[in-house]
Amino acid sequence: MVMAGAIRRPLVAGNWKMNGLKASAAELAAMVQGSGDLTAVDLLVCPPATLVAGFAELVAGSAILLGGQDCHPDASGAHTGDISAEMLADAGARAVIVGHSERRTNHRETDGLVRAKALAARRAGLIAIVCVGETRQQRESGATLNVVGGQLDGSLPDGASAADLVVAYEPVWAIGSGLTPTVADVAEVHRAIRAKLVDRYDAAGQGMRILYGGSVKPGNAKELMAVPDVDGALVGGASLKAADFLGIAAACR
Ligand code: PGA
Repeated sequence: MVMAGAIRRPLVAGNWKMNGLKASAAELAAMVQGSGDLTAVDLLVCPPATLVAGFAELVAGSAILLGGQDCHPDASGAHTGDISAEMLADAGARAVIVGHSERRTNHRETDGLVRAKALAARRAGLIAIVCVGETRQQRESGATLNVVGGQLDGSLPDGASAADLVVAYEPVWAIGSGLTPTVADVAEVHRAIRAKLVDRYDAAGQGMRILYGGSVKPGNAKELMAVPDVDGALVGGASLKAADFLGIAAACR
């Protein structure tokens, strides 16, 4: 049996959401310090955009990469309050999360917009982490695979490669709730996502990482990360504390 980790290097990405001030550099420094042993895992911290440039200096030379939490499809222009992928790259980011369920809900982002953002990420040389996931109601009505499949069809950009695209499966009801799907349910969705990726991108789809996200903690990470086709985690709340974030990363080894 080929273990997922044997063909895809795990990625643990921290999504700080709207949390963090300049003083959070101390927590990041603790992450940098603890990351030295985690040589088999890619580590990414996505702080608020205000902190990317300052944090870039802190992580320089370490195993921790920085990412943004969203970007505008355009490179520049009259879009008050928005931030482009090029700006994130300029500030030192290497990746950007697009289509997080909080953006899809709070800002009514559509699959088409998410795809445009993923294309913008590639244009700027960033890895796009495209998020998909069902609501509780959709899961209870048995629509999970249809919903996730539809989101992938609409949100993923053509011509992507394993070097520029990561998919994150995040059940909406598991985000910030302390609830997680069963291992069997995670396996079923990740298997379906892998099949979609291979169907769409051929061999490249085999190499693309599929992260699980939604209430990942040090205590459940080992079990979740051992599921076939789970190639890492997208972590919200637990990524704010160095000990928790590093504990989750250690579970991927
Ligand atoms: P959580 O958030 O780990 O706090 O559930 C995950 C996410 O929204 O990416």
